[in-house]
Amino acid sequence: MSLEFQAAETDPTNWIGSLAYRSKATADLSATELQGLTSNARLRNRKCGVTGMLIHQDGQFFQKLEGPPASLKHIWASISQDPRHDDIEMLSEHIVPARLFSDWDLLVYNSANASPAFGGELAENSGLFSKVPKLVDLALGGDDIGTNTLIASLAEKGWNGDAILAQLIEPTARALGDAWLADDCTELDLTMGLSMLQLAGHAVRHRPTPEAIRETKYSILLATAPGEPHMLGTSMLADLFTDAGWHVDMAFPGSDEALANQLGAQQPDALDIGMSEALSREHTLATLRETIQQSREASPDHLTVVSVGGRMFAEAAATAASVGADHARDSVVGTTVRIAELIRQKRQIRP
Ligand SMILES: Cc1cc2nc3c(=O)[nH]c(=O)nc-3n(C[C@H](O)[C@H](O)[C@H](O)COP(=O)(O)O)c2cc1C
Repeated sequence: MSLEFQAAETDPTNWIGSLAYRSKATADLSATELQGLTSNARLRNRKCGVTGMLIHQDGQFFQKLEGPPASLKHIWASISQDPRHDDIEMLSEHIVPARLFSDWDLLVYNSANASPAFGGELAENSGLFSKVPKLVDLALGGDDIGTNTLIASLAEKGWNGDAILAQLIEPTARALGDAWLADDCTELDLTMGLSMLQLAGHAVRHRPTPEAIRETKYSILLATAPGEPHMLGTSMLADLFTDAGWHVDMAFPGSDEALANQLGAQQPDALDIGMSEALSREHTLATLRETIQQSREASPDHLTVVSVGGRMFAEAAATAASVGADHARDSVVGTTVRIAELIRQKRQIRP
């Protein structure tokens, strides 16, 4: 397995690489062994400017790391050869505009051994994830004031907008979907909860990044999948792309034909098609593939990148390739930078 951070070739100084994988522990790790592993890992991460998180649960690892691409490559060379785990499955590797875990050399969550060291650390440091149940309650209760107060208080404590989206709002959307599946709420509650989150996401401020200046020449059509009633992801993307200086249009088409008509008329550089952030919709993957094919045919000369998103892609239950897209987002955060980079790369190959 190798890491190829192609974007670093264009301007390595500003980019942060990010990778996420899951793997299986080859043997039961005691709390002491895990502590040994993570304290060494932290020291090395700090030395290399790498930050991230590691979850150890039910004999499995999930790790997300971010940092300068060369450092990540170096550390990954060790991790990928480590005999303490196998069945390594890379979930994502890409460039992000900012770190999500800037304060943590390695935030560790170990569910099996909630020893004071780990438990205390989680309670103290995983501030945003731990707010998910509270936001679920507020959203299901339709409490917009409570929701906005919670988000505002987190922003005051110094959480940046990207972290609030990726570590709180997106996980809360999935938790709402789970509540609906478990019959803990009605479809109306779910829809209302998602619109509460949409408002909350809207209130989150995004600082335009230095990359924004380089992105301004591009345009994107942000569409919900034909017939998809959930539009949380599309709405969050609208704020992110606008703040990054893109020309943004939105579409809520009822059919592939309506989407194709809009594409033909607007000729954007990129198209993002959003599925539900709350529910997996595996049965619609074939339909999505057809939508993407028709979209490309509607704008054969101009449409360069087709991106997809939604819970299925966030949880790696489906990939971009499986629906004929160029990009699948596991979070709305970082999408502007990744799509800009993809447009650049594809146009370099085929101007
Ligand atoms: C699940 C898992 C996660 C790890 N995470 C890190 C990490 O974030 N940073 C790190 O330096 N080492 C990490 N390690 C340890 C490395 O695999 C390796 O043992 C350590 O970096 C020393 O590398 P070396 O023996 O190549 O010098 C991890 C190991 C495992 C099994």
